[in-house]
Amino acid sequence: MLVNQQGSVKQAELLPEEMLEIMFTYAAKISGENDLDRLLVLMAEMGRKWIQADRCTLWLLDEERKVIWTKVADGLERVEIPHPAGLAGHTILSGETVLVKDAYKDTRFNDAIDQQTGYQTKSVLCIPIRNFDGTIIGAYQAINKMTGTGAFSDLDVKHLQFAASYMGKSIQAALLHEELVETQKEIIFRLGEVGESRSQETGQHVKRVAKYSYLLARLYGLSENEASLIELASPMHDIGKVAIPDSILEKPGKLTSEEFDVIKTHTTTGYHIFKGSKRRILKIAAIIAHQHHERWDGKGYPNGLKAEEIHLYARITGLADVFDALASDRIYKKAWPLPKIIQLIQEEKGKQFDPLLADIFLAHIDQFVEIKERYTDVVKEDSI
Ligand code: C2E
Ligand code: SIN
Ligand code: SIN
Ligand code: FE
Ligand code: FE
Repeated sequence: MLVNQQGSVKQAELLPEEMLEIMFTYAAKISGENDLDRLLVLMAEMGRKWIQADRCTLWLLDEERKVIWTKVADGLERVEIPHPAGLAGHTILSGETVLVKDAYKDTRFNDAIDQQTGYQTKSVLCIPIRNFDGTIIGAYQAINKMTGTGAFSDLDVKHLQFAASYMGKSIQAALLHEELVETQKEIIFRLGEVGESRSQETGQHVKRVAKYSYLLARLYGLSENEASLIELASPMHDIGKVAIPDSILEKPGKLTSEEFDVIKTHTTTGYHIFKGSKRRILKIAAIIAHQHHERWDGKGYPNGLKAEEIHLYARITGLADVFDALASDRIYKKAWPLPKIIQLIQEEKGKQFDPLLADIFLAHIDQFVEIKERYTDVVKEDSI
């Protein structure tokens, strides 16, 4: 029996108008959300309040990886458990609703999570979630009923089923949205690699430049949304190198000034590839490709733009790109030790680099080094 803070033995079930109010509040939030992770958090919250459970989780099935996964709160990583296991696994596999009064007396229950967290599961309700064609895509799991006898009732089953049928559509839309976003990201990275791979790199360079650019944008104070756009567009900064002959790009030694003039065209080539696009990310990619070798003092290329004439996004990616180029082996140079890189950024502050960005970068250098280490590959991805 559960005791609330006032010491009374039980709380009342929600009144119909209270249930409606919860429904309307969450319906508005849910319909405006297409981020899958945030949707899962919202739906779990709604289910928990709706049937007065202590916890509620919306598990989604990843058939390929044989896991079910969820997101328990904003900002935290996704949680996953092997599939099929436990009561949620049983529901997803069989399509049956599971209503259990005492989980520890049920052999299907998997106490691994309780073991880890010290939480005591008692009553459990699991119902399947289906997509349009009836395929089971996950399960709604409520744990520990907070009112009455502490067990979930048939009415709770009905209520949660109602919520689940309403949510299936939103989840389906969010899954599709996520698939599109992931596909778009992959195309961007693969496209970006085309420019880089010929200069003896493994594709991790463009990923790192994307991550540094995102971090620098956030540290500078740009919104999550804007920083994400830069993250997506920055991998394509060197796409124009596709048009540079191997004899120049892969020359082990120092370039002649004629050869360097050819190299310089990679900025305008990249710009021309994207400039006609009406898509926001590709417009940004055009700007970054065009301006990432401009310098704060106006001595860069292709147009000798100065200071704030250079788009902020290009100043951000430009600094990220140089940091990574210096920190990596190139066909024409060895990686520099960190102190030498720091010294260069310091010296070039206000010359090559936006002084404010350079200061921010140096103040958080550890975080950039951490990205460099995390995204440095040992084997070439293609060799698998
Ligand atoms: P990248 O290798 O991605 O280098 C990007 C930028 O990082 C360079 O732009 C430069 O600003 C900076 N950077 C890289 N290595 C060094 C260095 O040793 N010292 C200094 N101070 N800065 C460095 P940049 O110079 O406009 O070069 C653009 C691209 O041209 C390079 O991209 C690379 O693909 C090519 N490149 C430049 N120099 C040579 C070279 O001597 N040999 C060959 N084969 N390619 C070169
Ligand atoms: C189960 O469904 O039995 C395991 C998952 C959980 O306890 O949350
Ligand atoms: C190089 O280091 O050989 C080229 C980079 C630069 O412009 O200094
Ligand atoms: Fe470049
Ligand atoms: Fe680059």
